Amino acid sequence: MPTNTTKDPGPTLPAVEMHIHKPNDPTIGIVVENRLCTKGGNKAAGFVRHIVLDISKTNIAGRFRVGQAFGVIPPGEDAKGKPHKVRLYSIASPTGGEDGTGTLLATTVKRMIDEHWDDHSLFLGVASNWLCDLQVGDEVPITGPAGKRFLLPAAPNEHDYAFFATGTGIAPFRGMVQELLAGGVTSQIVLVLGSPYATDLLYHEEMTALAEQHDNFTYLTALSREPQPDGSTRLYVQDRIETHAELFEQVLGGERGLVYACGLAGMELGVIQGLYRTLTPEAFARYVIPEPEIAGDPESWNRKMIPRRLSPTRRMFLEVY
Ligand code: A2P
Repeated sequence: MPTNTTKDPGPTLPAVEMHIHKPNDPTIGIVVENRLCTKGGNKAAGFVRHIVLDISKTNIAGRFRVGQAFGVIPPGEDAKGKPHKVRLYSIASPTGGEDGTGTLLATTVKRMIDEHWDDHSLFLGVASNWLCDLQVGDEVPITGPAGKRFLLPAAPNEHDYAFFATGTGIAPFRGMVQELLAGGVTSQIVLVLGSPYATDLLYHEEMTALAEQHDNFTYLTALSREPQPDGSTRLYVQDRIETHAELFEQVLGGERGLVYACGLAGMELGVIQGLYRTLTPEAFARYVIPEPEIAGDPESWNRKMIPRRLSPTRRMFLEVY
């Protein structure tokens, strides 16, 4: 029988500061770098950039943690003539920022490109395209930091980690993987990154190099639109749990495991179903507790059942959008 872990408090999380700068009192970050996160020439119609801000002159310097987000206020007004509202972006750096001094904050921005639903005219997301067009030296009104739940535990070496990212959901994990490995943990760490094509993998060279340097870090990709060796065409991050079942049992089968998922809404259900299919009932119950009525029937589960009917425990961290 699965042990009843409903009361499991999960790992202790570090205390964080929040809202040092609120939307009515933004501060200014200065662009020091703005580059593609891919090698260029990507096949999918997505353009993702790594943008680094110098926040040394702000009160946020040294006061954010990996996994948190910050706010960006694009200049100008919306269609109703009101100033644009704050948009949240995940911090892609470790707690010390890009160079350990807490003054260089990176994020991962995808240009939002869409059609208006009525006349099909082109629509460009305001904040993402403004950010992606910025040059070194440009000023960015920012707020934050924000978020107190999607964090690494206070005692990182007491845990093993499975990180699942789709697209720009890689942002917090780039920082977390860097932070864990630089801190010298002996924890097992697995990162699965999902992209349409190999050309669209974000931070791919960086993650590949870290995996080569650290035996305790495994980096797996899941390409959804490339032919797979078995003849199928679609591989999603959650499918990796089954293709690498032994690895995930090692990382998540014991008491130390933590699961993190960040990216497209929809992926969290797939990850939960993948864990159900691969882990023992005892291990699965450390991450998700299904209502008794639906417990044995993962095919009937749907996204709306999260979090009430399929209840993630404190060992499962979800950030989907
Ligand atoms: P696809 O769009 O081919 O179905 P990006 O943000 O760069 O588009 O990447 C997101 C990745 O996540 C794509 O490979 C996309 O696949 C995949 N994806 C889409 N829906 C889900 C889902 N429900 N679960 C897991 N991965 C998903």
